[in-house]
Amino acid sequence: MVATGSLAAIGAVATAWPFINNLNPAADTLALSTIEVNVAPIAVGQAVTVKWRGKPVFIRHRTPDEIAKAKAVKLSELPDPETDAARVTDANKKVRPEWLVLVGVCTHLGCVPLGNKSGDQRGEFGGWFCPCHGSAYDTSGRIRKGPAPKNLEVPQFVFATDTLVRIG
Ligand code: FES
Repeated sequence: MVATGSLAAIGAVATAWPFINNLNPAADTLALSTIEVNVAPIAVGQAVTVKWRGKPVFIRHRTPDEIAKAKAVKLSELPDPETDAARVTDANKKVRPEWLVLVGVCTHLGCVPLGNKSGDQRGEFGGWFCPCHGSAYDTSGRIRKGPAPKNLEVPQFVFATDTLVRIG
């Protein structure tokens, strides 16, 4: 498992005020508001799914071909126009096209799209495919076909180091 993450400071706060602890959100909820994922074990072409704030988050290590395909798409072809570069820029404005981080929830009615596991169907645009009603996303997680109105959401993320991404 490559997901780790907790906020030690929150544990300390919870211990300092044991009597009002029940009024606060559960410690495990707080701990999951930010997660850190070591992406070093994710090979090119592979992806992992981690849980963040109760939702699946997809982290894909894109191949050069997937990156090239995502970059080549004209904005005019997109129902929800967004450049690939904008989607792979972290909170420190660092652009790392090989890493795509997405909330894995279809923007139609909330199913979890296929395409993150090897052997999954990825749909005709090579990214993800939601079998619930047939939405197809491209290698940037942008909606290309089907009833979903929006691209898969890119959560707030930042690369703390070359191999450690912090989400949230
Ligand atoms: S929930 Fe994904 S297409 Fe309907």
